[in-house]
Order: sequence, then C-alpha cells, then structure tokens
Amino acid sequence: MWISKSWAVSLCCLSSFVSATILQNGQVRVTDYPNTVTEASSHNWRTYPANAAELSYKGRWDDDHISWWSVPGLKFGFTGKEVAITFGPHTSNGVLVAYRINGEDWQFSNITTNATHLLISPSTEGVDLTSPISPSTFELRVTNWAYGVQVKSVHVAAGASLIKLKDYNRRIEVIGDSLSSGMYGTYEGLSSYAYGLAAGLGDTEYSVTAYPGICVTDQECWGNPRGQTYQWYRTSDTGGRATNIYGTNPPLWDFSKHPAADIVVINLGTNDNNTANNVTNEDYYNSYIELVEGVHNVWPKAQIIISALWNGFGKSGNTYIQGPAFVTEIWDVYKHFNSASYLSSQHTCPPRNPLKWWLPPCKPGRPNAPFVHYFNTTGILQHNDIGPLWHPTDVGYIKVASHLMQYINLKFGWELRATGPEVFHDTLYWNDQDSY
Ligand SMILES: *[C@@H]1O[C@H](CO)[C@@H](O)[C@H](O)[C@H]1NC(C)=O
Ligand SMILES: *[C@@H]1O[C@H](CO)[C@@H](O)[C@H](O)[C@H]1NC(C)=O
Ligand SMILES: *[C@@H]1O[C@H](CO)[C@@H](O)[C@H](O)[C@H]1NC(C)=O
Ligand SMILES: *[C@@H]1O[C@H](CO)[C@@H](O)[C@H](O)[C@H]1NC(C)=O
Ligand SMILES: *[C@@H]1O[C@H](CO)[C@@H](O)[C@H](O)[C@H]1NC(C)=O
Repeated sequence: MWISKSWAVSLCCLSSFVSATILQNGQVRVTDYPNTVTEASSHNWRTYPANAAELSYKGRWDDDHISWWSVPGLKFGFTGKEVAITFGPHTSNGVLVAYRINGEDWQFSNITTNATHLLISPSTEGVDLTSPISPSTFELRVTNWAYGVQVKSVHVAAGASLIKLKDYNRRIEVIGDSLSSGMYGTYEGLSSYAYGLAAGLGDTEYSVTAYPGICVTDQECWGNPRGQTYQWYRTSDTGGRATNIYGTNPPLWDFSKHPAADIVVINLGTNDNNTANNVTNEDYYNSYIELVEGVHNVWPKAQIIISALWNGFGKSGNTYIQGPAFVTEIWDVYKHFNSASYLSSQHTCPPRNPLKWWLPPCKPGRPNAPFVHYFNTTGILQHNDIGPLWHPTDVGYIKVASHLMQYINLKFGWELRATGPEVFHDTLYWNDQDSY
C-alpha cells in the first residue's frame, strides 16, 4: 500500500511576518543571519533607480520590480566596494535572500520591508581580492517561492558605478510545482533541483516558474486558484501575495520582451494525481498536451523535457517500492509529440479559442523536428531521499539535478561549465576520522 500523501500547502496562512523554527535533519537550524539593515541617509552613495539599464532581473519580475515564483534574481557588475539595495513596500518582511560577489560562497540575510540593506562593504570577503572576473559581479536570489522582494533602488560607493553584464547564451526554464520550487529544501529554491540543474550546468540563465500545490490542469488545486495551462503565461505565481496585488487578473508575461529558453523542463502532475483535487486522467493528459503545445508555440526552437514523476515510496513487505503517478499519461504525451503523424503535420494555426484570448498568437510554419524528450526518473531516488514532508531531501534534490545535468549533456551536448564556485550551500559535510 502507498502511504497516503499530503501535498497540502497552507496558502491561506502566509502572514506578512516570516518567522518559524526550521528543523534540519531533526536539528534546529540556526537562522540568525547577519542583519544588514542600514540608514541610507548616513551614506554618501551613488544611487540607481530600480529600472536602471545596468540591472539584470532574472526569472519573473513585474513592472514595479516585484519578484515572483521561485529563486528570482538580480544581477549586475559594479565598481567600488559597496553595494546596498533599498527594498520597497511589496517586500515580504523577513524574506531570506542569498547573495554573493563573483564566485564567493552564498551569504544570507533576512530583508526588512521598506529598508535599505548594505550587502557588500569593504569588509566583505573577497571584495579586496583581484578577480579573473571583471568587473566584480553581484548576484542576489530570493530563496523562497511564495515570499518576494520589491527593488526600489540600488546604491554603490560615491564615484563608483553599476555595469551592465552580458547574459549567458544558454537558457533553461523549469515549469513545475513544489517539487521544482524546492519546497522543504534547506534553502528552498536555492536547494531545489531546478536551481541546481541550471547553476550546476553553469553559464546558464534560468527561470523557475514553479509553485507548490499547483496542477497542470487549470483548476483549483490545494488552494491555488489556477493551473499551469493558465498561470505559466502570467508574470505572477498563484500565491496570496499575488492575489493581494492583482486580484484575479494577474498581468500577462510579455514573452516578446525576454529571450526564449533553449531547454524547458516540465515536472507536473503530482498534484493532479492526488485524489483530493479530482483531476481525471484524461484531463491531466489533455492539459499536459495543451501546456507543451503552448510552450512550443511561444518558443518554437526550445527542446522540451517532460519529467516522469516519483510520487514517494511505500513499504511493501520488508522492502520499499516507488509509487507510480500518471506513468502511462506522461509516456503518452511523449508519444503524441513524437508520432509520425504529429511530426509530419503542417502546424497550421488552430482557430483561436475566445476563452483563451490571452494566449500569445500562434506562429505557423514551426519546424517539424522532434522537440519533446522523456526524462525517466525511475532509479534516481530511494525511499530515504524523500523527507517526512513528502519532498526530496537536499540529497534527493541534488541527485535529481545531477542526473538531469548529465541527461542534458548527453542529449544536447551542453558542456558542464560550473567549475569551482559552490552551487548548493551548506552541503559540505564529511567524515573527519582518518584512521580507525
Ligand atoms: C530569516 O529567514 C529564515 C528562513 O526563511 C527564517 O526561518 C527566519 O525566521 C528569518 N529571520 C528573521 C529574523 O526574519
Ligand atoms: C512601507 O512604505 C509605505 C510607503 O512607501 C507604507 O505605506 C507602508 O506602510 C510601509 N510598510 C511597512 C511595513 O513599513
Ligand atoms: C471532489 O469531488 C468530491 C465528490 O464529487 C467533492 O465532494 C469534493 O468537494 C471535490 N473536491 C474538489 C477539490 O473539487
Ligand atoms: C495516478 O497515477 C496512477 C499511476 O499512473 C494512476 O493509475 C491513477 O489513476 C492516477 N490517480 C489519480 C487520482 O489521478
Ligand atoms: C523507466 O525506467 C524503468 C527502469 O529502468 C523502466 O522499467 C521503465 O520502463 C522506464 N519507463 C519508460 C517509459 O521508458
């Protein structure tokens, strides 16, 4: 028997104050990160507005520079030895962000709504060292998937300046639910397989449009009002923070203003497969086809990897067996897009559905090459790679990320370009006994 699963996320109860005791492998995790709040008026800085051309926003941010979804980021080059950021009123109070310069390890700080944070100062490790990377780069990532920040302005030392960085020329988009957003990972999004995949490949831009509890099917699932066949086209996620700002009409994401992804990984269905959400197998299959068609329409050249699910493990007699979820349906989606009839069809545009007026216009004449690939997850995770709250442990996420990296390397020839700076933080544990 499979143990009954609870992917429930109490979206109802996200308060504006972020504070909780986190148990990490049964131990209380120390979360007294350095307080970086400072008084902006006491510094003589050069200040750039949130819409400065030198700032590169990663993932999905709206026109008011509010971050959405999992591990959204901000990156730029700078001169001098100071970087401070003033955060706006739509910042979740206490949200944990990770930041670093160049290839130094990630540092963490809880952000205060409306406050200015001095993140890089002359005492920051590495700020004085010469770097093969020129100019010095600053990168910030929001670690959580439901909380976010709003950037109001960025400051550097007087006489110093921000520098626009070139984007990497490889891009990955991961579309998913809690399993891709990094839920219950030590650093949430920054511990997720989605982040680990893109950062682990190195020199790759990434966007993680994943939100806990969401279905691919456009219906309510675990409190998320819509599914990914609707929400993926929106700037904001399905959380309460977005509903507070946008109500039921979140802004459309303007794909034409952002470069296309080269590789899209989809991991969806664990929530559709839960009996609590009443999604039929047929609805799941049809919604999945619709999402893949939609992604292909927006980014005709993207290779789309659809991931099999893993759905936890249950005891069977005196051993463990993996629980299946939509095994046939996901394989059928793969077969559909690789069938001779699909590949030889002309891809003329179907009539527009007036109920889906918001879908980006269909582009006829798309290439007739196979573009959907199947990532078989069987054999990657074992029962003790899943934590008590039904999600992979940090080790589990790292295993999924590593296998996906190698899959992409073998299938599409992408080199592994991360060659030193840490990807996952706080994973350095080892045996310190050398003789016994
Ligand atoms: C900082 O963030 C962590 C992780 O979200 C959280 O557990 C902790 O309570 C936060 N601390 C403060 C002071 O907000
Ligand atoms: C943040 O500042 C805005 C005005 O810019 C104010 O309305 C809001 O109450 C402030 N929020 C907090 C938590 O201080
Ligand atoms: C699922 O269906 C059952 C039986 O029809 C119904 O009682 C329940 O409210 C439905 N749940 C959802 C989330 O729609
Ligand atoms: C979940 O997936 C299993 C295995 O593919 C399938 O047999 C079952 O019908 C699905 N259940 C629900 C509720 O979607
Ligand atoms: C996935 O891998 C498992 C283990 O090798 C295998 O039994 C299964 O048939 C594979 N599934 C598909 C759809 O290829």
